[in-house]
Amino acid sequence: MTQPYQRFARHYHEGHYTQFARWVSETVFPHFQQALSFQPQSLLDLACGSGIFAAHMAAKGLHVTGLDISPMMLEIAREQSSSVNWVEGDMSRLKLAERFDCVTCFFDSLNYLLHAEEIARTFQAVSAHLNPGGYFIFDMNTIYGLAVSWQRFPYNLNQDTEDYLELMGTAYDYELDIADVRFIMFEREGERWARFEEIHRERGYHLDDILLMLEQAGLQPGYILGDPMSLRPLAENDGRVWITAQKPG
Ligand SMILES: C[S@@+](CC[C@H](N)C(=O)[O-])C[C@H]1O[C@@H](n2cnc3c(N)ncnc32)[C@H](O)[C@@H]1O
Repeated sequence: MTQPYQRFARHYHEGHYTQFARWVSETVFPHFQQALSFQPQSLLDLACGSGIFAAHMAAKGLHVTGLDISPMMLEIAREQSSSVNWVEGDMSRLKLAERFDCVTCFFDSLNYLLHAEEIARTFQAVSAHLNPGGYFIFDMNTIYGLAVSWQRFPYNLNQDTEDYLELMGTAYDYELDIADVRFIMFEREGERWARFEEIHRERGYHLDDILLMLEQAGLQPGYILGDPMSLRPLAENDGRVWITAQKPG
């Protein structure tokens, strides 16, 4: 099985996927800052992907580190900003010499950790890398999102241009709470089309387990939201949960 975010990295960045990071940068994160009365000076963006959010924060004057496991995503991230400290690494094995006022992890990146121990280790590491009073702000796909919302569309035509065609197929394993996402990519090479494939796997976690793991890591959950803009609490049929957790000051 191929690793995710290799061939797909460029198509991720050039496709509609990065609208999410733009929305988080311009709207959601500033809204959280206001709601929490929080002005971080330094920020660590875990699973920073192609770097849109981290680059946006650096342009606002924050001291930013962006970490991702995919060298191809980081290659694109480096093109977004030379002010960010880009680091290749696994967030569940995070070990940096610095501490930050804020740690973020957006767009279902935590769902890519398929074992609860990896989530627990990541939360412990986040706690160890936060300054007292600092916030961890993240979102995750819920089990409902992966098992119900995603499965309503088992096949999607995601991108369709003259030179590129992308199909996405999803399936869900109800015993393991794991969604398989298969990206089938066709790239035009002159007169011919080349076909590539990547499988991405995302696991859904019960909210109670996430909250317990945050508390065990010494992080106090604050907002647990279904809609970050209205600050509406999470409801049963929300596909995504937004969580803020604070390291006590
Ligand atoms: C859906 S993308 C989101 C990227 C970015 N946060 C955004 O909003 O555009 C998921 C990202 O998680 C990264 N990722 C997955 N597992 C990871 C891990 N264990 N450590 C660090 N990054 C990881 C992938 O390489 C990918 O860039």
